[in-house]
Amino acid sequence: MNKKTVRDIDVKGKKVLVRCDFNVPQDENGNITDTRRIVSSLPTIKYLLEQGAKVILCSHLGRPKGEFKKEFSLAPIAKELSKQLGIEVKLAKDVIGESAKELTDNIKEGEVVLLENVRFHREETDNDPEFAKKLASFAEVYVNDAFGTAHRAHASTAGIANYLPAVSGFLIEKELNFMGNALENPERPFVAILGGKKVSDKIGVIDSLLEKVDTLIIGGGMAYTFFKSMGYNVGNSICELDKLDLAKELMEKAKAKGVKLMLPVDTKVGKEFSKDTESKVVKYTEIPDGWEGFDIGTETIKMYQEELKKAKTVVWNGPVGLFEFEQFAVGTNAIAKCLSEVDAITIIGGGDSAAAIEKAGLSDKFSHISTGGGASLEFLEGKKLPGIECLLNK
Ligand code: 3PG
Repeated sequence: MNKKTVRDIDVKGKKVLVRCDFNVPQDENGNITDTRRIVSSLPTIKYLLEQGAKVILCSHLGRPKGEFKKEFSLAPIAKELSKQLGIEVKLAKDVIGESAKELTDNIKEGEVVLLENVRFHREETDNDPEFAKKLASFAEVYVNDAFGTAHRAHASTAGIANYLPAVSGFLIEKELNFMGNALENPERPFVAILGGKKVSDKIGVIDSLLEKVDTLIIGGGMAYTFFKSMGYNVGNSICELDKLDLAKELMEKAKAKGVKLMLPVDTKVGKEFSKDTESKVVKYTEIPDGWEGFDIGTETIKMYQEELKKAKTVVWNGPVGLFEFEQFAVGTNAIAKCLSEVDAITIIGGGDSAAAIEKAGLSDKFSHISTGGGASLEFLEGKKLPGIECLLNK
């Protein structure tokens, strides 16, 4: 990574504003159901505290659209951070108001203050310069460690870097090292597995990965658009009729590049979209009318597992079936299990694939699970991330 990090800047005695991504899932009672993003932010926070910095944290949570809403308060985050750090993390009642000013004016070395949800101000997502300047006025150094939000050009992720020396934290550094190395210098064979509903969501990433991988494995809803483009019936399966030519082009590109593009050879279809629906496995060429494909089939699982066992680097983004319903989670779980056992660098793009792995209890079995869903996808597409571009070069 060619960006400066917290190691490259003197923070002793300084007020350091750290943008984290504490956008974590919560249940209906406000309990955090996955603390991974919070835990992943700890190395940077602890390092800054050890260096004698005054640590001011900020983040968004959800999409409150510019208004204070209690359910989007960072209060549960402050509580969890206090528990994880073993010191009290004080929560400001606002983002740039009196409470934030008072707490940040009086913060001492070794203390941590958390500002309220930055998206309580519309100026955050508008990347408003005055709002960015006001946030910057609380600190002397800016650290971005919010990898999950690095694809957003918002005031606290990008605009603020115009007003303070800006460096990255350890999480962003780690994410870029893992994913950057996999893309630029992979140990081969390099295999990517892409799932998810729509080809249209993944065009950029398929296109970019075809330049880099040895094998590209396709699963999930987008497989049916490929089947349809080959002239097969897909029943009621999700299918983007306006993307049939694109699917053909991607298959041709794979051929031209010498990339092995693997599509399912069988699929588990269901009668309707419900967890207990009647289901059966059929060949990809024989999806009956009135049925809908929800998972890869038994032969496909075996075929994909064989390919994955030969890989030395694997990047996985998107579940290969409707993993929220147990009977259609078989393919995704089998892939997760197989990847947890292979002798290869295994990198999981965040979002749904990370959630599937968490659900399968396999989270500690991978080389790297990204904390970014949209951000990791954009990184894999080769796009520049505004939250990283804005940081000081080494
Ligand atoms: C995410 O969960 O992907 C990030 O926190 C970004 O959230 P956003 O899509 O609301 O910008």
